[in-house]
Amino acid sequence: MTNILFHCDNIEAMKYLIDSGFENKIDLIYIDPPFLTRDKYFLRTHGRQKLAFDDTFRGKNPLKIYLASMYPRLQNIRHLLSPSGSLFIHMDWHMVHYIKVIMDELFGYSNFRNEIVIKRGRRKNLLYQFKSMDRMHIANDSLLWYSKDNSAKFPLPMKENTVDSKWMGFWSNVNRPTMRYSLLGHMPERGQWKWTRSRAMKAVKNYKLYECYFSEVPLEKYWVETGKKLEFIRKRDEVKYAEYWIPPKNKTVLDNVWLDVESYGYSTGYETEKHEQLLERIIGQFSYPKALVADFFCGSGTSLVAAARLARNWIGCDSSPQAIHVAQKRLFNTRYKLIRLTS
Ligand SMILES: C[S@@+](CC[C@H](N)C(=O)[O-])C[C@H]1O[C@@H](n2cnc3c(N)ncnc32)[C@H](O)[C@@H]1O
Repeated sequence: MTNILFHCDNIEAMKYLIDSGFENKIDLIYIDPPFLTRDKYFLRTHGRQKLAFDDTFRGKNPLKIYLASMYPRLQNIRHLLSPSGSLFIHMDWHMVHYIKVIMDELFGYSNFRNEIVIKRGRRKNLLYQFKSMDRMHIANDSLLWYSKDNSAKFPLPMKENTVDSKWMGFWSNVNRPTMRYSLLGHMPERGQWKWTRSRAMKAVKNYKLYECYFSEVPLEKYWVETGKKLEFIRKRDEVKYAEYWIPPKNKTVLDNVWLDVESYGYSTGYETEKHEQLLERIIGQFSYPKALVADFFCGSGTSLVAAARLARNWIGCDSSPQAIHVAQKRLFNTRYKLIRLTS
């Protein structure tokens, strides 16, 4: 088991890991670095507040300082990521476009997989109070997903979602003459049927059999009892074209808009805490059990808690004593090694 919590600047932790043989070994890296919001963030507990980290990057040119600090860290992350691995970078509007350009240079444009739109925290749209505005209320953060090797393939990410069975028209207006054939007494002159002839004929037979001998059983029950494999096509007099049956689903494939999970959490008082739901989705969908997951800006430890819950090994790092304090509290029932490094 490789659970390690580093309390140090992450550049030191990354060097330590590279020197200790972790190059190409980390399966999934999630980072939620400062966004250059020019604010300070606090740990607020029991009516008291302590500075957790400073996101001002004070100096003549904060943007330059910020990017100069991110660049070597992203370079090292690339060394540590396994060839089949994924990197998720949590950003908001302040820096996402700059980081995208740096990432395309460091990882290669072809390794950019998706920008995932996620919900911002509990921030009300207060614009209704005014007559004019400078810009719209911002309701999203972004995750940039990169791979290390552009030939890497990933299992389809799924989410729980109950969709009832339904009948749909079997004709489509995409014009493919090879997919036109006589079906239940009808030969379309244009467009096409949705499936090949042999598949459709089988589905017609399946429905006829059901109608003749089993129609007192609901179709969905019949489909379940026959092994969830049968397809059905029917033709009703009142409908012009044949219809095919779409079975019920309890999962759907994810797209890049994730408004169904919370992104921000409010359980620890650590101001920039992310939600376990979001981290469980990333880790659960983009890594396997026993995979090695790392977060080099782990803050209150949300990703580490989610990784432990999903039986992944984890490496976390943060330079803020407040962050380490909260993360350790959250990880009280998990075994890990704490490493403090100084440059
Ligand atoms: C946006 S917060 C991360 C919040 C975290 N995802 C959570 O759920 O609590 C960014 C974190 O990066 C840490 N940080 C900033 N620069 C760092 C550095 N050079 N090395 C290590 N940690 C750093 C900050 O202390 C802060 O906790």
